[in-house]
Amino acid sequence: MTLISSYTASSLKDAAASLRSGNLVAFPTETVYGLGVDATNKEAVAHLYQVKGRPSDHPLIVHISSMANLDKWAKKIPVYAIKLARTFWPGPMTLILPRSNLAKDFITGNQNSVGIRVPSHPLASALLKEFEDQGGLGVAAPSANRFGKVSPTTAGDVFEELSGSLSPTDLILDGGPCQVGVESTIINCTQVIPEILRPGAITAAMISDLIGVQVNQIATGSNKSSIKAPGLLQSHYAPRAKVFLSTTPDFGAGFIALSNIPTPPGAIRLASPKNNNEYAQLLYQALRLCDTKQISNVIVIPPTGEDIAIAICDRLEKCAYKG
Ligand code: TXA
Ligand code: MG
Repeated sequence: MTLISSYTASSLKDAAASLRSGNLVAFPTETVYGLGVDATNKEAVAHLYQVKGRPSDHPLIVHISSMANLDKWAKKIPVYAIKLARTFWPGPMTLILPRSNLAKDFITGNQNSVGIRVPSHPLASALLKEFEDQGGLGVAAPSANRFGKVSPTTAGDVFEELSGSLSPTDLILDGGPCQVGVESTIINCTQVIPEILRPGAITAAMISDLIGVQVNQIATGSNKSSIKAPGLLQSHYAPRAKVFLSTTPDFGAGFIALSNIPTPPGAIRLASPKNNNEYAQLLYQALRLCDTKQISNVIVIPPTGEDIAIAICDRLEKCAYKG
């Protein structure tokens, strides 16, 4: 595995070629780092599942460079989904759509839908464009962490998490820390009314304002949706440390809260974000820091609000210690 920290047109060409020959390439997106693979290469995708330690019925998001390639992967695209794509792509949003024949079972986890995203990070855009120029159709990329663990927001996190399991020909591209910091909003667009399967930076209010229909958000643990929703397992997005929400810390516990909340006596401050956007940016770094500092318990005071706070609270509930 090679870590590439400064990229040029020729290193991007090489990275795209590497994907085309079936290798894994970890790359930055504006949300979190992804572990990319040619979405049409069954063996390469099998290798990816093995590296991630992910159950094979768990579907992958296909990343494309622009909306122009959408109908290669999806069909019967509702008008509201086209509106969403035109407005929020490139950006932190994934659309779940009825799949075309190109989206095989090994990508969709045997479902009849496929997840598609056009990321906005310049390095991701350039890599996807180059990959498509070389004849590729889409790059499947889950977050570049071991299954159930915290998503990586720097190339260093990816290295730490996966260097032991990547092959010598695999690559990690360093594009700096991710700007958003939590995974994309996933919207189920296989029904008459869209439904949020995973909250993110594109909020329910932004979606409702655009399409003029109230969108629902499926609750954690709910099985109301006809398709599999992400992160519904007992423990997801979790560090080794036990995460507690809104309790008083014991001596030596980690502490994460907005900067206006003072650190309780005896607690170890791990992050002091000034606002909710910064909270999202810093959260996963702070959770990883618990593990590097070998802190066994961390207290997190969730942010409030209708913005990205909803996504932060969703991830916190999923990683919180369930006793
Ligand atoms: O921000 C992101 O979305 C990042 C970056 C790398 O793009 N990717 C990401 O991928 O978070 P991953 O695989 O860690 O999470 C994607 C989630 C999975 O939990 C999966 O259940 C859901 O998307 N998903 C993918 N395809 C789906 C489908 N056809 N139906 C329902 N859920 C789907
Ligand atoms: Mg993930």
